[in-house]
Formats: sequence, C-alpha cells, structure tokens
Amino acid sequence: MPVYAVTGASGHVGRYAVQQLVARGVPASDIVAVVRTRSKAAGLAAVGVQVRGADYLRPETLSAALASVDRVLLVSSSQVGQLVAQHTNVITAAKAAGVSRILYTSMLNANDSTSPLAGEHRDTERVLRAAGIAVTALRNGYYTEVYTDPLGRYLSDGEILGASGDGRLSAATRQDYATAAAAALLQDEGGNRTYELGGPAFDPSELARLISDVSGTKVTHHDLRPEQYARALQQSGLDEATARFVAALDTHRTGDDCGWRGYIRSTGAVTVKGK
Ligand SMILES: NC(=O)c1ccc[n+]([C@@H]2O[C@H](COP(=O)([O-])OP(=O)(O)OC[C@H]3O[C@@H](n4cnc5c(N)ncnc54)[C@H](OP(=O)(O)O)[C@@H]3O)[C@@H](O)[C@H]2O)c1
Repeated sequence: MPVYAVTGASGHVGRYAVQQLVARGVPASDIVAVVRTRSKAAGLAAVGVQVRGADYLRPETLSAALASVDRVLLVSSSQVGQLVAQHTNVITAAKAAGVSRILYTSMLNANDSTSPLAGEHRDTERVLRAAGIAVTALRNGYYTEVYTDPLGRYLSDGEILGASGDGRLSAATRQDYATAAAAALLQDEGGNRTYELGGPAFDPSELARLISDVSGTKVTHHDLRPEQYARALQQSGLDEATARFVAALDTHRTGDDCGWRGYIRSTGAVTVKGK
C-alpha cells in the first residue's frame, strides 16, 4: 500500500483530507499527517495516523517528515508573500525522499487570473513541474466559508459591501475541496494533471437575496469602486495595505469572461473540470 502524506494537516483542508482518506479505507498507519503544531493533531494521532512535525521554513524537518512517503498532498501555506520559498522547501524534500506524486492546492484558473494571490500559485506550479515529480494541481476556487463566516456581520449591517461588480464566483466548502483532494490522492493516474475546482457560480447580489430570503432580514449588496471599497475596509479597522489587497482580491478577473466562473463536470459536491 502506498503511504500518503498530507501537509497542513492541523488546518481545515488538511485535516478533512486525512479524515477522507481514512473514510475511504486507507489504513491510518499508511497516512502521515505533517503538522507544524503537534498539539493540534491529537485527534488524528488518536485514530492511528502517523503525526510528524515539520515547518515549511525548516528543510531538515521536512526531509524527516516525508521519509518513506509515496504521495504528498501539499496544502498551500497561509503566509502570503512566502508561498514559493516555503513550497519549494517541501518540493525539494519530497524529491529527495523519492515521492512519486505531489498534489498541490493551487488557485482556480491560476494561469490567467489577475488575483494578487495567483502569481505565487503559478510560480509554485512551475517549481513543481520542474522538479520531475508527477504533479496534480488542485486549483481551488474560493471557500464558501469566506462568504458564510461573515454572515452575522451581513445581518447586523444589512449590507454586503464589495467591488466585484457582476463577477460570479464558484465557491465550495473546504470539506468539498478536501474530498476532491483525497479522491485525487488515491487515483492511480499517470503524468501531470490539473483540476479546476469550484461549486455552482453566484454573484454577491444573489448571495444577499438568498440571505434575505432565508433569514427574513433584508440584506442588500452594494457594489463600490475598488478605492471606495478599500476606504470602507479601512474604516472597519483594516490597515491601508490590507484593505487595498482585499479590494484587489474582489476585483480580480480570470478567464475570458468577467468573473470567477468555471467548473464543468460534477463529481458530487464539487464540480470539476479536468485538463
Ligand atoms: N480558496 C480559498 O478561499 C482560500 C482561503 C484562505 C486560504 N486559502 C489557502 O488554502 C490553504 C488551506 O486552507 P485552510 O483553510 O486549511 O487553512 P488553515 O486552516 O489556516 O490551515 C493552514 C495550515 O497550514 C499550516 N502551515 C502554515 N504555515 C506553515 C508552515 N510554515 N509550516 C508548516 N505548516 C504551516 C498551518 O499549521 P498551524 O496549524 O501550525 O498553523 C495549518 O495546518 C491556506 O493555507 C491558504 O493557502 C484558500
């Protein structure tokens, strides 16, 4: 049986992916949960998953964590600006360990997205392809939780502010993306693969209408110019650089249509367009 490693396994997507592997019949002892913070992985250790500590910033810890591993799910780092350097450390360690395939949680339409986050994902994919290990790029769309976590604020403010115009986004839950990742990890496929992943597309006005209908509280979407949105974010407490960054995230475009569209073939909860 192959040995599977999942990095970021103390986080949402990584933990769900490990749980999915177990649910799909992989013996827990054949799963390596690579975590920076061991105390957050006690639940995984309790079911027999091998928990190994490693930090993307410390190559020696990664070599030890990936010893005897066949396939790796590399969950992207959360430290924006440092992604390529950190991921390169993981890829180098995986290569040295003889890993046969790396799956990487990239970004939807990473090739042509104008998102300020896309460059680091594109560059990581380039490093992966140059490493000579088979690569599966899991290009995840936004998390549904990005839009459900602020629900309380939407309801108390009575509005959703944004700058995405009529751009549509294809969100799916973290659990759905993790399910797709686990399925891809278990696939015996050759060569490099790219999957564009997302759920059914919606725009913020539709979101506001849905919240209003379900809650009975009127919530309205206000579309602002990017600089207005950045100012509003600053007024709500973000520093200027973060506010501009978030506004730029909202206005990014991808593909040849105006929004975050995609996502053709359904494989259950997540829709998948394979290339
Ligand atoms: N598609 C989207 O909408 C969206 C939104 C937000 C983020 N993301 C990306 O998706 C990734 C996974 O999402 P998530 O919800 O699972 O994030 P999460 O819950 O924050 O988990 C991130 C994981 O990465 C680990 N990590 C961070 N820096 C590390 C380092 N230097 N060395 C080793 N491990 C490190 C964290 O370890 P600790 O537990 O020790 O902190 C944690 O396990 C994020 O990291 C980010 O790149 C996507």
